[in-house]
Amino acid sequence: MNKKKNYRFDTQVIHAGQSPEDWQGATLSPIYQTASHLHPTAENLTQTFAGKRDDHIYMRLTNPTNRVLEEKLAALEGGPGAVVMSSGMAAITNTCMALLRAGDEFVTGNSLFVTTYNLFIKVFSKYGITARLVESTDTEAIEKAINSKTRFVYLETIGNPKMDVPDLEQVASIAHRHGIPLVVDNTLPTPYLLRPLDMGVDVVIHSTTKYFSGHGGSMGGVVIDGGNFTWSQERFPDFKAFIDRKGPLALLDKIWREYHINFGTTQAPLHAYLTMIGLDTLALRMERHLKNAMKVAHYLKERPEVLWVNYPGLEDHPSHGVALKQFGGKGFGGMLTFGLKDQAACFRFINSLQLIYHLANLGDSKTLVIHPYSSQYYAQDEPTRQALSVPDNMIRFSTGIEAVEDICEDIGQALDSL
Ligand SMILES: Cc1ncc(COP(=O)(O)O)c(C=O)c1O
Repeated sequence: MNKKKNYRFDTQVIHAGQSPEDWQGATLSPIYQTASHLHPTAENLTQTFAGKRDDHIYMRLTNPTNRVLEEKLAALEGGPGAVVMSSGMAAITNTCMALLRAGDEFVTGNSLFVTTYNLFIKVFSKYGITARLVESTDTEAIEKAINSKTRFVYLETIGNPKMDVPDLEQVASIAHRHGIPLVVDNTLPTPYLLRPLDMGVDVVIHSTTKYFSGHGGSMGGVVIDGGNFTWSQERFPDFKAFIDRKGPLALLDKIWREYHINFGTTQAPLHAYLTMIGLDTLALRMERHLKNAMKVAHYLKERPEVLWVNYPGLEDHPSHGVALKQFGGKGFGGMLTFGLKDQAACFRFINSLQLIYHLANLGDSKTLVIHPYSSQYYAQDEPTRQALSVPDNMIRFSTGIEAVEDICEDIGQALDSL
């Protein structure tokens, strides 16, 4: 690969970070299954600990296989640096912790993956941190919620499972006007559909467990730092040492040094390897996910048993305009939700499926469904389920890459049984 050439996304997704010349000609990165690395001299190890050399020390800190994945993911999102971690939640936790101190606040949408919501509301509140929840697509509400204690704005680029799409350019400019960064979880669109850093976003997080890995076979997360935010402001006095050490990548250094290595949220190199194998087909898979989801949305619209379909690709969806602009007409994501008569109908529907899998995941090549109200949101009280837009008659549907006719036929026979 010519490292100076600006390859297209579909090429980069396969070739970024590849260096077979360093891997004895192997075309897949070796799995460096080693807890620690030998250092030829005492001076070498000292310099590495001081950050003057880029060598590896110990797997909890860095690992050569993980580093290849970091290079690939940074290239795909167009950022200068990335750190991979053990899960998407590890990436979210470490990023927020690096940005927050006791007593701080941040502004976030009411459209959040349930574990992120629990972390923000139930865990952070124990440490005197306040997450101000507003409507994710209401830019005025976002701006109003910002005050002198706010350290960042956090949004999902397609809300899971609300399926709303915030206008990133607008929110980024509001955040920057107030001297704070915008952090987003871009798991659902993936950079195939959306590159938030190009729209002024400062930090991008993913659960690599989903579309990147693509086969439900590995777990991981990543933080990609855009390197554009100015941390040397009054609001971020705790960034000084990290700015001195890493300049524009001060946040990534803080995340890594203060949290990732102390919390021990290491990505197992086997999982990084499996994620890289998944990445080779990301562009192809996304193309099919997006096409299939659109067809499924239209099919569901036609069925009398289905009360509503929530998919930003449908013209009557409140986020359709923003999604069309932001995703450049490529598609609208692989996930959607729809409503049946009640919870009993949802259960009958799920129990009648013959092809589609019923499980708690998304972004797999296989089509997956879940009834969030009675599963992931089981422990939430009723006002919280309502605030997060999780009614009891809702099915969440992650469209796979099978023949769409077979997907629709399975939905059809399950609806027939209601
Ligand atoms: C949008 C989103 N972000 C983050 C996560 C957390 O990722 P992980 O399960 O890899 O910790 C999930 C998991 O479903 C998710 O859907």
